[in-house]
Amino acid sequence: MELNERILHYLEKSDKVDTLKLASEFGEDHQKIVGAVKSLEALEMVVSETAKSTKWDLTEEGLLVAEKGSHEAVLYRGVPENGIAQAELMKIIPNAKVGFSKAMSSGWISIDKSGGAPLVKRKVDSITDTVQDHLNEIKKGIDNLPDNVRNDYKKRKLLQEITIKSFLLSKGPQFATSIKKLETDLTSEMLLTGLWKELEFKPYNFDALGQPPECGHLHPLLKVRSEFREIFLEMGFSEMPTNNYVESSFWNFDALFQPQQHPARDAHDTFFILSPEKSTEFPMEYLEKVKKVHSEGGYGSQGYRYDWKIEEAQKNLLRTHTTAVSARMLYKLAQQEEFTPQKYFSIDKVFRNETLDATHLAEFHQVEGVMAERGLGLADLIGVLDAFFQRLGFRRLQFKPAYNPYTEPSMEIFAFHEGLGKWIEIGNSGVFRPEMLLPMGLPEDVNVIAWGLSLERPTMIKYGLNNIRDLVGPRVDLQMVYNNPICRLDKRSFKCNMISVR
Ligand code: PHE
Repeated sequence: MELNERILHYLEKSDKVDTLKLASEFGEDHQKIVGAVKSLEALEMVVSETAKSTKWDLTEEGLLVAEKGSHEAVLYRGVPENGIAQAELMKIIPNAKVGFSKAMSSGWISIDKSGGAPLVKRKVDSITDTVQDHLNEIKKGIDNLPDNVRNDYKKRKLLQEITIKSFLLSKGPQFATSIKKLETDLTSEMLLTGLWKELEFKPYNFDALGQPPECGHLHPLLKVRSEFREIFLEMGFSEMPTNNYVESSFWNFDALFQPQQHPARDAHDTFFILSPEKSTEFPMEYLEKVKKVHSEGGYGSQGYRYDWKIEEAQKNLLRTHTTAVSARMLYKLAQQEEFTPQKYFSIDKVFRNETLDATHLAEFHQVEGVMAERGLGLADLIGVLDAFFQRLGFRRLQFKPAYNPYTEPSMEIFAFHEGLGKWIEIGNSGVFRPEMLLPMGLPEDVNVIAWGLSLERPTMIKYGLNNIRDLVGPRVDLQMVYNNPICRLDKRSFKCNMISVR
């Protein structure tokens, strides 16, 4: 007979029964009984009320005693026929202190001090370890101990009282000794044959929780990226194609007026590609102009006055910044018959040969904004940065003069972080140099302003992570990805979400 029906049969004869009693009568696990009761309750065949009862159970030490014997018995058994020096005995027997005093008061051992150092001897030939026997009974669920004995064991920390929750069962309105099988599905056949009129259906459980949907979860970086993207789109920027991680040194450095001896172009800072090692396709007319502006100058500039080599520009690398993409886009814009103002942005991966630590990885994401229009200047840059960072939640900005080979002037952007109570660096920016723009062929009165920051730092702050390895890489906890809420940058209240560039 099924457990459900056994419970119903039992209940037929007795009006009320506790699930604990059923568990011991049926020799079943209590949890299993409770499970069966729940399903009977859903059918209204039984009703239950919760009950609490207490029970004595073995502590961890009690379990040990039940298995190995009481401390006094263990000590008694440790005494050899001819006795043993007390000091030695106390050393070799576990819990010897308790064991010794209990064995003494039980009259199992005696102590002989006649020969100087005290000697422990057995006083009786055999012992009965009632403590162990008692505990083993309790372990089996039999508790006939007199109160004083039980209290003694409690004091010795061998027993503890535990509370168990159970259910007191009685017959429900649909009580019967056998379970009717209720239909769970209404089929087209039942409708066609009219059978549905006779059948009994299982009531709907509107309180049941649905299955959690099996679906993918966005990584925090992707969530923050979509917030940034939205800000750019709201401000009328369009996204640049950033699908090439591999770039030539030409677009990553030379086009940006970064001299070929610049330390960032060293393998210590940049990952160069071995295969294919070199790029061969360049817009040659433009390349010649880049060569000239580096080596001889032009457009009012002296240039760097060094021997520019195409071999250096050909070297392939993993792009170190998305400004390489901005350079390509601006060159493309310059090829347009008629210049039109543009606002571009990108958010994608860049790579640097960094020393790895809690906040630096060899790859990260850059957020970059670029605006090209006639007559733009520093004031426009400050204005657009203000608008952009306000949308991220920063109200107060400060700027510090900085240096980039491709921008002049250049500014590091600092924001006041309300939480930390200090100014923190949040980005880098500048006005692109004529040495970069004019060789591309952009009209002389067109200026381009741009800025960049990392995506990881604000994400870590937003999601409360202080080690980047918890965000990216093999140590990422997928549960973290699953549990974390969507990202909402606090755009209106201007409560600072801390953001910092690398
Ligand atoms: N490329 C810069 C960096 O990697 C960021 C930047 C972009 C600075 C555009 C100025 C203008 O940090």
